[in-house]
Amino acid sequence: KGRTRRGAWEAAAAPGLLFSTRAHWAGPPEDAQRFQGHRRELVEILDAKTREKLCFLDKVEPHATIAEIKNLFTKTHPQWYPARQSLRLDPKGKSLKDEDVLQKLPVGTTATLYFRDLGAQISWVTVFLTEYAGPLFIYLLFYFRVPFIYGHKYDFTSSRHTVVHLACICHSFHYIKRLLETLFVHRFSHGTMPLRNIFKNCTYYWGFAAWMAYYINHPLYTPPTYGAQQVKLALAIFVICQLGNFSIHMALRDLRPAGSKTRKIPYPTKNPFTWLFLLVSCPNYTYEVGSWIGFAIMTQCLPVALFSLVGFTQMTIWAKGKHRSYLKEFRDYPPLRMPIIPFLL
Ligand SMILES: NC(=O)c1ccc[n+]([C@@H]2O[C@H](COP(=O)([O-])OP(=O)(O)OC[C@H]3O[C@@H](n4cnc5c(N)ncnc54)[C@H](OP(=O)(O)O)[C@@H]3O)[C@@H](O)[C@H]2O)c1
Repeated sequence: KGRTRRGAWEAAAAPGLLFSTRAHWAGPPEDAQRFQGHRRELVEILDAKTREKLCFLDKVEPHATIAEIKNLFTKTHPQWYPARQSLRLDPKGKSLKDEDVLQKLPVGTTATLYFRDLGAQISWVTVFLTEYAGPLFIYLLFYFRVPFIYGHKYDFTSSRHTVVHLACICHSFHYIKRLLETLFVHRFSHGTMPLRNIFKNCTYYWGFAAWMAYYINHPLYTPPTYGAQQVKLALAIFVICQLGNFSIHMALRDLRPAGSKTRKIPYPTKNPFTWLFLLVSCPNYTYEVGSWIGFAIMTQCLPVALFSLVGFTQMTIWAKGKHRSYLKEFRDYPPLRMPIIPFLL
């Protein structure tokens, strides 16, 4: 009897017979399970644009993940390393997640996957470090008034206004904090992003940093209308929002065990800065915008106000997307929450 079963399994393992044999399995269920455990799946990968057949994999384990299939695909097409690949069930559909398992996907006996090239990739950490180190460095060039910016006679001179020095401390602190958070706090779920994005993002961050720094550190810069009172209020807003932003980043980090990609509903913790989670889905963005509003009030500088506005617009778009995903993913998502501004937006 045992030999017969082994015989059936060996037949099943022979290419071409896999599925017919599996379909007619009539033995005891525990053997069927063992038998299924040894079956192999067929996977074909087509180009999502041209529908050209790129690859045929004939011995894929049913419990193989999309990440493993990507690795197999790379063996025949080394130019498309896994992070560059998007595999989908539908040519225009959403990308499958790396952790999706083949046998749980709604596919027939031969799984057809559609491939799109995401373009050259760069690691998120590199992206963030480049994006954030740029503004830090650029701002300081203006603060120290290096030659060829304000004219020869101002080279390496220093502003007589306290607010200019305070602004430099706040700006530098903000970007140093972000660099350190990128290295030691955030647990990203995606390792990479398209290389072309870095040019767009750096233009935005570096360009605005240069524009703001040029005016704030200009020899003809005039301090804010309401003097020290305005600066103190602005500093308080800035500091509170920085602490809030950091607290939210720590709370998000604690939701995800190291090395995992888990996503959970964030809830307020004992730290009062996280209580904003009661009202919004992305309080880190709320605090980020608050910091820039504080900085705009402190410096009373138009480019800073514009940077705050553009940042707010971008973060609102992201917050709305994240809020929608939470509602879709978690049935018990707290109904009171708005994406970024309590009760409003
Ligand atoms: N000034 C500006 O224009 C501007 C624009 C954007 C961002 N920022 C700043 O940069 C910071 C980071 O931006 P971000 O867009 O990466 O923020 P984010 O999407 O809120 O994510 C922060 C970190 O928390 C993780 N995370 C988010 N929600 C989670 C959940 N429910 N469960 C587990 N982990 C979760 C994220 O992982 P994933 O990798 O899975 O997302 C990421 O590692 C912002 O908070 C803000 O301070 C500034």
